[in-house]
Amino acid sequence: LNGDQGRMDSNTVLYGVFGDPVRHSRSPLMLNCAFRETGVNGAYAAFHVKPDELEAAVLGIRALGFRGVNVTIPHKVNVMAYLDEIDEGARFIGAVNTIVNESGRLIGYNTDGIGYVRSLKEETGIRLEGSNIVIIGAGGAAKGVAYALAKENPRHMYIVNRTADKAAQLAQNLYPLVSSEGMGLDQLENIKGKIDLVVNTTSVGMHPNLDEVPIALDWLQEGMTVSDLIYNPLETRWLREAKAAGCRTHGGLGMFIYQGACAFEYWTGKKAPVEAMRDIVLTSLS
Ligand code: ATR
Repeated sequence: LNGDQGRMDSNTVLYGVFGDPVRHSRSPLMLNCAFRETGVNGAYAAFHVKPDELEAAVLGIRALGFRGVNVTIPHKVNVMAYLDEIDEGARFIGAVNTIVNESGRLIGYNTDGIGYVRSLKEETGIRLEGSNIVIIGAGGAAKGVAYALAKENPRHMYIVNRTADKAAQLAQNLYPLVSSEGMGLDQLENIKGKIDLVVNTTSVGMHPNLDEVPIALDWLQEGMTVSDLIYNPLETRWLREAKAAGCRTHGGLGMFIYQGACAFEYWTGKKAPVEAMRDIVLTSLS
Protein backbone atom coordinates (compact mmCIF):
# COMPACT_ATOMS: atom_id res chain seq x y z
CA LEU A 1 0.00 0.00 0.00
CA ASN A 2 1.22 3.43 -0.80
CA GLY A 3 0.83 5.77 2.09
CA ASP A 4 0.45 9.20 0.56
CA GLN A 5 -2.43 11.51 1.39
CA GLY A 6 -4.53 10.29 -1.52
CA ARG A 7 -4.36 6.64 -0.53
CA MET A 8 -4.85 6.49 3.19
CA ASP A 9 -6.91 3.64 4.64
CA SER A 10 -7.87 2.32 8.06
CA ASN A 11 -4.36 1.05 8.72
CA THR A 12 -2.50 4.20 7.80
CA VAL A 13 -0.12 5.28 10.55
CA LEU A 14 0.20 9.02 11.10
CA TYR A 15 3.27 11.22 11.37
CA GLY A 16 3.84 14.95 11.25
CA VAL A 17 5.86 18.03 12.05
CA PHE A 18 4.94 20.47 14.83
CA GLY A 19 6.11 24.04 14.23
CA ASP A 20 5.13 27.71 14.37
CA PRO A 21 5.30 28.75 11.55
CA VAL A 22 5.14 25.46 9.63
CA ARG A 23 3.51 26.04 6.23
CA HIS A 24 6.90 26.53 4.53
CA SER A 25 8.15 23.11 5.69
CA ARG A 26 9.40 20.67 3.05
CA SER A 27 9.23 17.76 5.52
CA PRO A 28 5.73 16.51 4.53
CA LEU A 29 6.73 16.37 0.87
CA MET A 30 10.00 14.60 1.72
CA LEU A 31 8.64 12.06 4.24
CA ASN A 32 5.55 11.16 2.20
CA CYS A 33 7.92 10.52 -0.70
CA ALA A 34 9.94 8.21 1.56
CA PHE A 35 6.80 6.29 2.62
CA ARG A 36 5.73 5.89 -1.04
CA GLU A 37 9.18 4.73 -2.16
CA THR A 38 9.46 2.11 0.59
CA GLY A 39 5.81 0.95 0.61
CA VAL A 40 5.19 2.08 4.20
CA ASN A 41 1.50 2.78 4.87
CA GLY A 42 2.11 6.12 6.54
CA ALA A 43 1.02 9.72 6.07
CA TYR A 44 2.86 12.84 7.25
CA ALA A 45 1.29 16.29 7.68
CA ALA A 46 2.34 19.72 8.93
CA PHE A 47 0.70 20.88 12.19
CA HIS A 48 0.71 24.54 13.12
CA VAL A 49 1.12 24.24 16.90
CA LYS A 50 1.25 27.45 18.94
CA PRO A 51 3.50 27.42 22.03
CA ASP A 52 0.58 27.30 24.47
CA GLU A 53 -0.84 24.23 22.67
CA LEU A 54 2.42 22.27 22.60
CA GLU A 55 1.64 20.07 25.59
CA ALA A 56 -1.81 19.20 24.24
CA ALA A 57 -0.32 18.43 20.83
CA VAL A 58 2.23 16.06 22.38
CA LEU A 59 -0.53 14.32 24.38
CA GLY A 60 -2.29 13.92 21.04
CA ILE A 61 0.63 11.88 19.67
CA ARG A 62 -0.07 9.23 22.29
CA ALA A 63 -3.86 9.53 22.15
CA LEU A 64 -4.05 9.19 18.38
CA GLY A 65 -1.25 6.64 18.03
CA PHE A 66 1.07 8.69 15.85
CA ARG A 67 4.29 6.71 15.33
CA GLY A 68 6.49 9.73 14.98
CA VAL A 69 6.70 13.50 14.95
CA ASN A 70 9.34 16.00 13.98
CA VAL A 71 9.57 19.12 16.07
CA THR A 72 10.82 22.40 14.67
CA ILE A 73 11.14 26.06 15.62
CA PRO A 74 10.20 27.23 18.25
CA HIS A 75 9.43 23.94 20.06
CA LYS A 76 12.70 21.96 20.00
CA VAL A 77 13.69 22.85 23.57
CA ASN A 78 10.30 23.15 25.29
CA VAL A 79 8.98 19.84 23.96
CA MET A 80 11.49 17.93 26.11
CA ALA A 81 9.40 18.58 29.25
CA TYR A 82 6.53 16.49 27.83
CA LEU A 83 8.46 13.38 26.75
CA ASP A 84 9.05 10.14 28.67
CA GLU A 85 12.69 9.71 27.73
CA ILE A 86 15.40 11.79 26.04
CA ASP A 87 18.21 10.14 24.11
CA GLU A 88 21.75 10.95 25.25
CA GLY A 89 22.62 13.07 22.19
CA ALA A 90 19.42 15.13 22.42
CA ARG A 91 20.11 15.65 26.11
CA PHE A 92 23.61 16.96 25.36
CA ILE A 93 22.32 19.26 22.62
CA GLY A 94 19.38 20.35 24.79
CA ALA A 95 16.91 20.03 21.93
CA VAL A 96 14.70 17.38 20.32
CA ASN A 97 13.72 17.33 16.65
CA THR A 98 12.33 13.78 16.42
CA ILE A 99 9.87 11.94 18.66
CA VAL A 100 9.39 8.17 18.44
CA ASN A 101 6.22 6.72 19.97
CA GLU A 102 7.13 3.29 21.36
CA SER A 103 3.70 1.90 22.35
CA GLY A 104 2.77 5.08 24.20
CA ARG A 105 6.24 5.85 25.51
CA LEU A 106 7.48 9.04 23.82
CA ILE A 107 11.23 9.15 23.23
CA GLY A 108 13.02 12.30 22.05
CA TYR A 109 15.99 12.26 19.69
CA ASN A 110 17.97 14.87 17.80
CA THR A 111 18.83 13.86 14.23
CA ASP A 112 20.14 17.28 13.10
CA GLY A 113 23.78 16.66 14.04
CA ILE A 114 23.94 13.01 12.97
CA GLY A 115 22.13 13.94 9.76
CA TYR A 116 24.72 16.62 9.19
CA VAL A 117 27.65 14.23 9.63
CA ARG A 118 26.09 11.58 7.38
CA SER A 119 25.53 14.18 4.68
CA LEU A 120 29.07 15.55 5.05
CA LYS A 121 30.67 12.10 4.79
CA GLU A 122 28.46 10.89 1.92
CA GLU A 123 28.78 14.07 -0.13
CA THR A 124 32.47 14.93 0.38
CA GLY A 125 34.12 11.64 1.40
CA ILE A 126 36.00 13.55 4.12
CA ARG A 127 37.94 11.61 6.76
CA LEU A 128 37.06 13.12 10.13
CA GLU A 129 39.22 10.97 12.39
CA GLY A 130 42.30 12.97 13.41
CA SER A 131 41.07 16.13 11.68
CA ASN A 132 41.19 19.73 12.92
CA ILE A 133 37.76 21.36 12.78
CA VAL A 134 36.54 24.95 13.07
CA ILE A 135 32.88 25.53 13.91
CA ILE A 136 31.62 29.07 13.38
CA GLY A 137 28.76 29.90 15.73
CA ALA A 138 27.79 28.57 19.14
CA GLY A 139 23.97 28.45 19.03
CA GLY A 140 21.57 25.53 18.77
CA ALA A 141 22.69 24.40 15.32
CA ALA A 142 26.37 24.54 16.34
CA LYS A 143 25.68 22.36 19.39
CA GLY A 144 24.10 19.59 17.31
CA VAL A 145 26.80 19.64 14.67
CA ALA A 146 29.66 19.87 17.19
CA TYR A 147 28.29 16.96 19.23
CA ALA A 148 27.97 14.69 16.18
CA LEU A 149 31.40 15.71 14.81
CA ALA A 150 32.98 15.11 18.23
CA LYS A 151 31.82 11.48 18.04
CA GLU A 152 33.94 11.02 14.89
CA ASN A 153 37.21 11.34 16.83
CA PRO A 154 38.65 14.52 15.36
CA ARG A 155 42.01 15.70 16.73
CA HIS A 156 40.85 19.14 17.85
CA MET A 157 37.79 21.34 17.56
CA TYR A 158 37.78 25.14 17.64
CA ILE A 159 34.47 26.85 18.36
CA VAL A 160 34.58 30.40 16.99
CA ASN A 161 31.78 32.83 17.75
CA ARG A 162 30.98 36.56 17.64
CA THR A 163 30.26 36.26 21.37
CA ALA A 164 33.41 34.54 22.65
CA ASP A 165 31.84 33.52 26.00
CA LYS A 166 29.29 31.31 24.27
CA ALA A 167 32.06 29.62 22.27
CA ALA A 168 34.03 28.95 25.45
CA GLN A 169 30.95 27.48 27.12
CA LEU A 170 30.22 25.10 24.23
CA ALA A 171 33.88 24.05 24.02
CA GLN A 172 33.85 23.31 27.74
CA ASN A 173 30.72 21.17 27.41
CA LEU A 174 32.36 19.24 24.56
CA TYR A 175 35.56 18.68 26.44
CA PRO A 176 34.77 15.17 27.73
CA LEU A 177 34.17 14.08 24.12
CA VAL A 178 36.87 15.93 22.21
CA SER A 179 39.82 18.23 22.71
CA SER A 180 38.25 21.65 22.10
CA GLU A 181 38.55 25.36 22.76
CA GLY A 182 36.39 28.41 22.24
CA MET A 183 37.36 31.83 20.89
CA GLY A 184 36.03 35.05 19.41
CA LEU A 185 35.85 35.62 15.64
CA ASP A 186 38.75 38.08 15.98
CA GLN A 187 41.08 35.25 17.09
CA LEU A 188 40.57 33.19 13.94
CA GLU A 189 43.80 34.54 12.40
CA ASN A 190 45.79 32.63 15.05
CA ILE A 191 44.70 29.22 13.76
CA LYS A 192 45.22 29.81 10.08
CA GLY A 193 46.63 26.96 8.05
CA LYS A 194 46.06 23.95 10.29
CA ILE A 195 42.42 23.31 9.52
CA ASP A 196 40.80 20.42 7.60
CA LEU A 197 37.13 21.38 7.94
CA VAL A 198 35.36 24.68 8.62
CA VAL A 199 31.58 24.74 9.19
CA ASN A 200 29.34 27.81 9.21
CA THR A 201 26.40 27.27 11.58
CA THR A 202 25.31 30.93 11.70
CA SER A 203 22.69 32.52 9.48
CA VAL A 204 25.25 34.87 7.90
CA GLY A 205 24.78 34.65 4.10
CA MET A 206 21.23 33.36 4.27
CA HIS A 207 18.57 34.81 2.00
CA PRO A 208 18.10 37.78 1.64
CA ASN A 209 21.62 38.76 2.84
CA LEU A 210 23.33 37.07 -0.08
CA ASP A 211 26.52 39.18 0.01
CA GLU A 212 27.44 38.47 3.63
CA VAL A 213 30.15 35.95 4.53
CA PRO A 214 30.72 34.51 8.03
CA ILE A 215 34.54 34.87 8.00
CA ALA A 216 37.10 36.67 5.86
CA LEU A 217 37.55 34.93 2.52
CA ASP A 218 41.35 35.15 2.63
CA TRP A 219 41.29 32.83 5.64
CA LEU A 220 40.23 29.91 3.43
CA GLN A 221 43.04 27.79 2.00
CA GLU A 222 43.26 25.31 -0.82
CA GLY A 223 42.49 21.74 0.26
CA MET A 224 40.18 22.66 3.16
CA THR A 225 36.63 21.36 3.24
CA VAL A 226 34.22 24.26 3.65
CA SER A 227 30.69 23.49 4.82
CA ASP A 228 27.67 25.77 5.24
CA LEU A 229 24.43 24.72 6.97
CA ILE A 230 22.49 27.30 4.96
CA TYR A 231 20.42 25.89 2.07
CA ASN A 232 18.60 29.04 1.03
CA PRO A 233 20.40 29.81 -1.23
CA LEU A 234 21.63 26.28 -2.08
CA GLU A 235 25.11 27.70 -2.59
CA THR A 236 26.08 30.72 -0.46
CA ARG A 237 28.55 33.33 -1.63
CA TRP A 238 30.97 31.92 0.95
CA LEU A 239 30.83 28.44 -0.64
CA ARG A 240 31.18 29.87 -4.14
CA GLU A 241 34.30 31.78 -3.16
CA ALA A 242 35.67 28.76 -1.28
CA LYS A 243 35.28 26.62 -4.38
CA ALA A 244 37.11 29.24 -6.42
CA ALA A 245 39.92 29.18 -3.82
CA GLY A 246 40.39 25.43 -4.30
CA CYS A 247 38.37 24.17 -1.33
CA ARG A 248 36.00 21.22 -1.30
CA THR A 249 32.52 22.55 -0.50
CA HIS A 250 29.40 21.15 1.13
CA GLY A 251 26.02 22.95 1.24
CA GLY A 252 23.25 22.69 3.82
CA LEU A 253 20.55 20.86 1.88
CA GLY A 254 22.07 17.46 2.68
CA MET A 255 21.70 18.11 6.41
CA PHE A 256 17.98 18.71 5.95
CA ILE A 257 17.58 15.57 3.81
CA TYR A 258 19.56 13.35 6.19
CA GLN A 259 17.94 14.62 9.41
CA GLY A 260 14.68 13.47 7.80
CA ALA A 261 16.27 10.22 6.61
CA CYS A 262 17.50 9.43 10.15
CA ALA A 263 14.02 10.18 11.59
CA PHE A 264 12.46 7.90 8.94
CA GLU A 265 14.88 5.12 9.90
CA TYR A 266 14.13 5.46 13.63
CA TRP A 267 10.39 5.27 12.93
CA THR A 268 10.28 2.48 10.34
CA GLY A 269 13.50 0.49 10.76
CA LYS A 270 13.92 0.72 6.98
CA LYS A 271 16.72 2.37 5.06
CA ALA A 272 15.63 5.81 3.84
CA PRO A 273 15.43 6.41 0.06
CA VAL A 274 17.76 9.37 0.31
CA GLU A 275 18.13 10.16 -3.39
CA ALA A 276 14.36 10.20 -4.03
CA MET A 277 13.93 12.43 -0.98
CA ARG A 278 16.61 14.79 -2.25
CA ASP A 279 15.09 14.93 -5.75
CA ILE A 280 11.60 15.83 -4.55
CA VAL A 281 12.93 18.57 -2.23
CA LEU A 282 15.18 19.99 -4.95
CA THR A 283 12.25 20.06 -7.38
CA SER A 284 10.12 21.93 -4.83
CA LEU A 285 12.88 24.51 -4.31
CA SER A 286 13.41 25.27 -8.00
P1 ATR B 1 20.65 28.44 15.60
O1 ATR B 1 19.69 27.53 16.30
O2 ATR B 1 20.36 28.64 14.14
O3 ATR B 1 22.06 28.05 15.85
P2 ATR B 1 20.94 30.53 17.56
O4 ATR B 1 20.93 29.52 18.66
O5 ATR B 1 20.18 31.80 17.74
O6 ATR B 1 20.40 29.91 16.21
O7 ATR B 1 22.49 30.88 17.22
C1 ATR B 1 22.84 31.78 16.23
C2 ATR B 1 24.36 31.78 16.07
O8 ATR B 1 24.70 32.57 14.92
C3 ATR B 1 25.10 32.37 17.23
O9 ATR B 1 26.36 31.74 17.34
C4 ATR B 1 25.26 33.84 16.79
O10 ATR B 1 26.35 34.52 17.40
P3 ATR B 1 26.18 35.21 18.87
O11 ATR B 1 26.25 34.08 19.86
O12 ATR B 1 27.33 36.12 18.97
O13 ATR B 1 24.85 35.89 18.84
C5 ATR B 1 25.54 33.65 15.33
N1 ATR B 1 25.20 34.83 14.51
C6 ATR B 1 23.96 35.24 14.14
N2 ATR B 1 24.03 36.35 13.40
C7 ATR B 1 25.35 36.68 13.29
C8 ATR B 1 26.08 37.72 12.65
N3 ATR B 1 25.46 38.67 11.93
N4 ATR B 1 27.43 37.70 12.75
C9 ATR B 1 28.07 36.73 13.46
N5 ATR B 1 27.44 35.73 14.09
C10 ATR B 1 26.10 35.70 14.01
